[in-house]
Amino acid sequence: MKYLCPRPPILKVEPLSPSLPRVISDDKLSDNLYELLEGKIERLPWATIDGPADDSVDGILTFGHHAVTAAHMANFPQLKVVSNYGVGVDHIEVAAATELGISVGNTPDVLTSTTADMALSLMLAAARRVCEGDQYARCSEFKVFDPAYMLGTEVHHQTVGIIGLGRIGYQIARRCAAFDMEILYHKRTQLADNPDQLNLTYTSLEELLNRSDFVIVICPLTDETTGLIGTQQLAAMKNSAVLVNVARGPVVCTEALTVALREKQIYAAGLDVTDPEPLPREHELLTLDNVTITPHLGSATMQTRRKMAELTVVNLMQGLAGEPLAHSVS
Ligand code: 8YV
Repeated sequence: MKYLCPRPPILKVEPLSPSLPRVISDDKLSDNLYELLEGKIERLPWATIDGPADDSVDGILTFGHHAVTAAHMANFPQLKVVSNYGVGVDHIEVAAATELGISVGNTPDVLTSTTADMALSLMLAAARRVCEGDQYARCSEFKVFDPAYMLGTEVHHQTVGIIGLGRIGYQIARRCAAFDMEILYHKRTQLADNPDQLNLTYTSLEELLNRSDFVIVICPLTDETTGLIGTQQLAAMKNSAVLVNVARGPVVCTEALTVALREKQIYAAGLDVTDPEPLPREHELLTLDNVTITPHLGSATMQTRRKMAELTVVNLMQGLAGEPLAHSVS
């Protein structure tokens, strides 16, 4: 018996697991999104996008703060989809993607009302000096109410001019109507009719700037809208007017706005976006009292970010499967 060879151990051969799609993924995306993708993809670090050509990459998952260029996409011959966590796709070279047969998905609708709420928040905060008031109420100088301090400017029954009347612009208009405001708008093409009995008046950009007490910028960032609001446009606004930007920073020229606010050519500004973003910490704009700045919070609610994550995942998985996307921009 002792000469018998020991039985070889039985080799348990695991069936080969099908490999998961490989997706370059922004490292800063929300946990919601990563949870939804658990077990569905192999996540590659964002730095892969600048690495050598790789024919094993199937998808890119991104958001509005990192560019996805034609050169990036051309580096990944098997790339099927770029899924963006957000509606704005100015950071993605969509025409190049289309040419390369790559689908590009985004997340409209789910963030429309939330971003409109943010526009109203900034309009009210800038007009009624909410952030200044908050700081004052916390500081030691605040001893007793003074009827003369922190007088703001009225919002209700004033005229608002909305630049860019797309989905979000329209929701801003509805909210402004509830404040009994007169509503002007400017966009590339005039609306055929007035939806929902909202009393919207189409004007040229110049007329809108001349007449509005509040100018709200919510157009996409394109070659035509880059620098749309500069020195000349700010000079066309009333000295009592408030500018709100919830679109993209480069639509408004930062230096021109800084001068206009410093010289009180306009009353105040409310900015959810800046150019650059963030502004250098020593930038003069950050020292001015008549500007309220938030760090790109347009869609930042727990509920909306969850819905954005779900839609981003749906788009991604559809693109990886070679199916049409629920929301495609290409
Ligand atoms: C996002 C946005 O918060 O959707 C957009 O275009 O600007 C915001 O909703 C942000 O860009 C993350 O993608």
